[in-house]
Amino acid sequence: MRREIIAGNWKMNFTADQTASFLKDVKAELGGLDKVVLFCVPYTDILAAVEAVKGTDIQIGAQNMHYEASGAYTGEISAEMLLEAGVTYVIIGHSERRSYYNETDEGVNKKVRRALEVGLNPIMCCGETLQQREEGVLKEVIRTQIVGGFAGIAAADAKKVIVAYEPIWAIGTGVTATDEQAEEMCAFIRQVLCELYGDVSEEISILYGGSVNEKNAKSLMSMPNIDGGLVGGASLKPSFVQVVNYE
Ligand code: 13P
Repeated sequence: MRREIIAGNWKMNFTADQTASFLKDVKAELGGLDKVVLFCVPYTDILAAVEAVKGTDIQIGAQNMHYEASGAYTGEISAEMLLEAGVTYVIIGHSERRSYYNETDEGVNKKVRRALEVGLNPIMCCGETLQQREEGVLKEVIRTQIVGGFAGIAAADAKKVIVAYEPIWAIGTGVTATDEQAEEMCAFIRQVLCELYGDVSEEISILYGGSVNEKNAKSLMSMPNIDGGLVGGASLKPSFVQVVNYE
């Protein structure tokens, strides 16, 4: 019933040339897909990436977008621009954007709504710092991010949103959340979504992100409330094929 999704987030890595050659190899290795597989690439790699995966089911995503359709926003990219370039998914509110570029739940919400309006699949990120976890405010933090991110979104649209739970202490650190920690929080997110949307919460895909690799993917992905992964570092390596084919 829920989409199973393995998404790579390249962050600020790979030039267009590197994109073309990496995806050519990965595409040959991947073969037929039984789940949604996508790469969220830097803006300047999008055209090369879309070209490289033509004729396959691999999808190309972006890592951010602006919430306005057009206007005087120097350095920004609109949802329409992404769509025209062949993008189908967009990461919104990654913790790196929240912490380095001061993105707020309100801004995240505007972007998610805009993405839905134009028909892009938003991957809305949430996650706590180690300090918040240790102080015991973990669930409050996540609840605030989810309720804020989904504000004003009707149930029919809510089921198109993909949520990515990425504990900040597990990102790029090699410290993966245990299967139980990840499941506990993804189940909690579904509970909050259930309070907001009732049964529709069962249709919303929730991904785990934070040091996912070919060794831990299988046990994480087999947890009942984890519907896939948002993969950083390991999506830049040929072994990403094994993350996708973790079974
Ligand atoms: P790593 O897989 O490198 O920990 O990154 C996770 C992430 O931030 C994906 O969005």
